[in-house]
Amino acid sequence: MHELQTEIDQLTQAINQHNIRYYVDDAPSIPDAEYDRLMKRLIELEQAHPHLALPDSPSKRVGGIALQKFDQITHLKPMLSLDNAFETDDFVAFNKRIADKVGAVDYVCEPKLDGLAVSITYRNGVLERAATRGDGSVGEDITQNVRTIRAIPLKLRGEGFPELVEVRGEVFMPKAAFEALNQRQMAKGDKVFVNPRNAAAGSLRQLDSKITASRALGFYAYALGVVEGESQTMQLTHYGQLNQLKQWGLPVSLEVKVCDTLENVFTYYQDIMSRRSQLEYEIDGVVIKVNDIEKQQTLGFVAKAPRWAIAYKFPAQEEMTLLEAVDFQVGRTGAVTPVARLKPVFVGGVTVSNATLHNADEIARLGVKVGDTVIIRRAGDVIPQIVAIVPEQRPDDAQDIVFPQYCPVCQSIVERLEGEAVARCSGGLFCEAQCKEAIKHFASRKALNIDGLGDKIVEQLIDKELVKTPADLFSLTASAITMLDRMAMKSATNIVNAIKQAKTTTLARFLYSLGIREVGEATAANLAQHFAEFDKIRTASVEQLLEVSDVGEVVARHISQFFAQPHNIEVIEQLLNAGITWPKIAQADESQLSLKGQTWVLTGTLSQLNRNDAKAQLQALGAKVAGSVSKNTDCLVAGEAAGSKLAKALELGVKVIDEQGLLDLLNASH
Ligand code: IVH
Repeated sequence: MHELQTEIDQLTQAINQHNIRYYVDDAPSIPDAEYDRLMKRLIELEQAHPHLALPDSPSKRVGGIALQKFDQITHLKPMLSLDNAFETDDFVAFNKRIADKVGAVDYVCEPKLDGLAVSITYRNGVLERAATRGDGSVGEDITQNVRTIRAIPLKLRGEGFPELVEVRGEVFMPKAAFEALNQRQMAKGDKVFVNPRNAAAGSLRQLDSKITASRALGFYAYALGVVEGESQTMQLTHYGQLNQLKQWGLPVSLEVKVCDTLENVFTYYQDIMSRRSQLEYEIDGVVIKVNDIEKQQTLGFVAKAPRWAIAYKFPAQEEMTLLEAVDFQVGRTGAVTPVARLKPVFVGGVTVSNATLHNADEIARLGVKVGDTVIIRRAGDVIPQIVAIVPEQRPDDAQDIVFPQYCPVCQSIVERLEGEAVARCSGGLFCEAQCKEAIKHFASRKALNIDGLGDKIVEQLIDKELVKTPADLFSLTASAITMLDRMAMKSATNIVNAIKQAKTTTLARFLYSLGIREVGEATAANLAQHFAEFDKIRTASVEQLLEVSDVGEVVARHISQFFAQPHNIEVIEQLLNAGITWPKIAQADESQLSLKGQTWVLTGTLSQLNRNDAKAQLQALGAKVAGSVSKNTDCLVAGEAAGSKLAKALELGVKVIDEQGLLDLLNASH
């Protein structure tokens, strides 16, 4: 029995020690697998001999019996909040008030963690209870839940601590844990959390602590609260207190720094803001505190906030605003997308007045109505999103968002196919919105590559009714184009010439330019190579299409449906009549292809051929065109200024040819 107790003691101590190394020192001492092994052994022993388990056993972190409700806890000393600074001037004013009262000070700068404030009391070094901040005076007893958070020691490290120590800090959910949690929630069909702070709150305020235990919460201590029975451990500075907390085994953010000038504080703020997205947890600003405890006491408090600390916030990444209306936009493939028109709001450094609502499912998921107050998030450079609504602020006259039955642009029927999230206008090229997008696509670089025919020009051509279908481009005259805004004869002539030039293309480009759904560049190239003739593609059955590499059921159906529409055939006829041509493709008897089974790589700048065409032509000869050189590469085409791929090919002894070599080969194959 004695031996068992010793083993349990040792395991308990070892695991707790490893936790501290991991969470406090940021220096894991053993691999995860070894940690798991120790834990497994401890749980085995404790299950066989429950009376030998120690009060600070790490196995206690799995959660206990669910509560009916949380008890209330009155804080020994109120938990304060912080005043905010939003601009440099606010902070300068804060600093001046301090200097006027206590002279120059050192500041401690800390990340403002975006989680929940908690208070944890240790009696004689053992975690006794934990509470939420609540209203600052009274919080909720979340002891059971806090015990499941591995970053929080159940027992303080070392000895000689005061009889009672209150630690204050922030419980948060690391970004990675938040993403993983939402994935799991989604898979189970449970509600997803709006942001890591809500997820942390939802996880910590669980009556069933087993749920809390299953959520990977983190913790950083940021202040020492009440201390009773103080010994020689008294610290004279806030920074000293934080170090003391670390000594006791409590994690403190590694980003905490002492700054002795205003300038250093600003540098700290800028630096951490620039690294914000790389941090493992969300922060929404910097907390700046007077370091000297005596000066803190001299400065005292106003209302509920100390005069010696301030939260210097980053420009918000989440803001509330009003959803004023929803418009429906029609894209190239007819997708009808709801776009939220918002009362302009400044969020994350820019003014946002529109946000996509994606589709009907998203509207249902958010439960949003016109007139609602919504939460907008703009994280990094991503497009702004509506993440939630504020139900309490819904007005009585909030309007349901009704998906249109008819296209807002051409009045054709809007269809939503079984199993698809997206609703589409059935108008095809008859729909002006789709037509605009289709012509932009038709002229784009990877399609017919019409120089000078940018998006703005296409829009004007359609608005002015100079063009209705892609085929109309070919009968445009320079004088007609001069009718567009700020369009001189010279530029107009250039456009006409570019259109004329684009008539000579490749079958692959022509196919791609038609904008058939799901037919990207690669599929177009495969189709061209497989069928060699446009008419064979146009009349191919779904079964025949499925024989093409990379063409599956969905793509095959889209292709066949596209060619089944009389309107599309009409436009194609017009295009061919306008003189679009391409070099004949050698009949695709695949076994006869000269590069069959070979892997080629293109690198450097090609001057006569464009990279996509070179790729398509090599593919037409049966080669696979890969992105990187390996020992399986058969040949590297090295253009101007080839770099690392050329070096690698030479090193591996892969055959290398230049652009002229490629042109010779392609000519010989025609
Ligand atoms: S100190 C008397 N330090 O911000 C000072 N608070 O608006 C009390 N917070 O409720 C707070 N990071 O939840 C402090 N490094 C930090 C903090 C921090 C986040 C939160 C805390 C508090 C709120 C104050």
